[in-house]
Amino acid sequence: MKPEIKIRRAEPSDAEAMKKIFESPKVIYGTLQLPFPSTENWRKGLAQPPDGTYSLIALINDEAVGQLGLHTFPHNPRRRHVGQIGMGVHEDWHGKGVGSALMQAMLDLADKWLNLSRLELEVYTDNEAAIHLYKKFGFVTEGTHHQFAYRDGVFVDVYAMARLRK
Ligand SMILES: CC(C)(COP(=O)(O)OP(=O)(O)OC[C@H]1O[C@@H](n2cnc3c(N)ncnc32)[C@H](O)[C@@H]1OP(=O)(O)O)[C@@H](O)C(=O)NCCC(=O)NCCS
Repeated sequence: MKPEIKIRRAEPSDAEAMKKIFESPKVIYGTLQLPFPSTENWRKGLAQPPDGTYSLIALINDEAVGQLGLHTFPHNPRRRHVGQIGMGVHEDWHGKGVGSALMQAMLDLADKWLNLSRLELEVYTDNEAAIHLYKKFGFVTEGTHHQFAYRDGVFVDVYAMARLRK
């Protein structure tokens, strides 16, 4: 049975939980995070996010287990319709619907409140779970960036994926 998942905006007091999520090895592997993250950096980022940044967290039994960040461009008139996404779920909670709940909440925000018509992201070409999740929510692959990032001693490729609102 899937657990009950609540979504809310992340607050500075969630910094320690964010650090725990993003230091889990599978999350470092799937994102651009580095090992040995700092709680203080998370607290600062959550307290003073750049304009147009929305950070959602997922809670199970009041424990923060996943985060999704949406970055928008309120000061760039020609990119005002765009949002960029990054996300991570603590590896102890993968496959329980947390990523889907975060994505659905973000799509509602983007479509119905922010009027974003293009959402974009990058995903490592070997990240099958994330690619499956994104396709499920209407993202398509637009191309490949080669040697996009350095990961555990090797350069790795990413797919550029996007979802255009219908
Ligand atoms: C990608 C990630 C966010 C997904 O979160 P999650 O909570 O596990 O996602 P869900 O449980 O909602 O859904 C996962 C989906 O992927 C599927 N899946 C899981 N492993 C899979 C695999 N190896 N291949 C294909 N599909 C897979 C599940 O069956 C599920 O699909 P369904 O809803 O159609 O049944 C999570 O795995 C994660 O945080 N990974 C590490 C960090 C990361 O990669 N972030 C994304 C950066 S682009």
